[in-house]
Amino acid sequence: MDNNSISILDNFLSDNNFSSLFILADETVLHRYPDFWKQIHSKIPQIIYPFTAKETNKSIEKATEIWNFMIDRQLDRNTLMLNWGGGITSDLGGFVAANYKRGIRFINVPTTLLSLIDASIGGKNGVNISNLKNGIGTFYFPDLVLKSRYFLRTLPQEEWMSGFGELLKYALIANKKIWNEMQTLEEVTYYTIKQEWLQPAIDFKDNIVSEDPYETGLRKILNAGHSIGHVIEAVSSRHHRKITHGHAVALGLVVESNIAMNHELLSIDSFYNIKNYIKKIYKITRFSEQEISEMSIFIQNDKKKSHNYISIPLITKIGSAKIENEIKIEELIAALVNLQSSFLN
Ligand SMILES: NC(=O)c1ccc[n+]([C@@H]2O[C@H](COP(=O)([O-])OP(=O)(O)OC[C@H]3O[C@@H](n4cnc5c(N)ncnc54)[C@H](O)[C@@H]3O)[C@@H](O)[C@H]2O)c1
Repeated sequence: MDNNSISILDNFLSDNNFSSLFILADETVLHRYPDFWKQIHSKIPQIIYPFTAKETNKSIEKATEIWNFMIDRQLDRNTLMLNWGGGITSDLGGFVAANYKRGIRFINVPTTLLSLIDASIGGKNGVNISNLKNGIGTFYFPDLVLKSRYFLRTLPQEEWMSGFGELLKYALIANKKIWNEMQTLEEVTYYTIKQEWLQPAIDFKDNIVSEDPYETGLRKILNAGHSIGHVIEAVSSRHHRKITHGHAVALGLVVESNIAMNHELLSIDSFYNIKNYIKKIYKITRFSEQEISEMSIFIQNDKKKSHNYISIPLITKIGSAKIENEIKIEELIAALVNLQSSFLN
């Protein structure tokens, strides 16, 4: 890891008197960076738990395995947990930390673009249950997030595309300048994503979370693209079709922008700008009728559903969004059904 992050971590460890350091490690990252944890100067005992970072492991069963492992190692309440990996690792690890012995302190070391700008920040954690994404979880905040591009060098292309989906979302809800700069981008890679785009996205999320940590108002804006995105992600994985989180969010942004245009919240030009740009960057998947019909059922399980409505944030112009918009379930379903034609036109 870069020297600055190592020294932040060392200082944090020496300022606190933890009994041990429990590292939940994405095994791919551990394999790529075998020396990371050896760089930590502190003499605190380190226990590593490698695991496969896949969505099916973001589960209560995996969390239970980890808790049993921790109990077997007699890890006490003064253990510091370090989640080293992408969003799957920080979501699962945050959930484990929040509940182990009623809560131990934890830190995140994000290794994907998506977790660097989004998932590792903000204390939302959770596991999936019965096809319901993040169906069980808590708000529980990390003591520290070590934000560095260091680990991104080895990120596979599809994971760049995934993180870019959240970066796009940030630009659409809050930063027209970055959205405009992105328009010339032909390819999403370590070299083409500008560092100047990442820090504002991180700062934006940090600020929103500190103003509204428990998502009672302002923070809901970060869910733009996610109501539809989660449904696409869940049904795709059920059909063994690999669509990453950020890719699904990007498709969700198109569908939800279509709804915003129908409600005359978003101009026709802006909608076509959003749609055409996302179409240029992302491979557009053709969903089967069966998948679309399952998506329609899934949307009814949305955590935000109340009566027959879901309140979702909608983009009102490039760079800003309106947080609460009561949308009828039927309308969301119709927009989902229109997904294909929306891309083909
Ligand atoms: N809690 C939140 O606020 C929040 C926000 C957004 C997304 N999420 C969650 O995050 C998850 C997605 O996380 P993600 O996209 O960060 O990645 P991930 O954890 O799903 O990892 C993606 C893949 O990249 C690999 N990988 C990770 N870092 C690598 C590196 N440096 N080099 C090579 N390979 C590496 C992993 O092993 C894995 O195969 C989803 O479950 C989503 O629900 C949570």
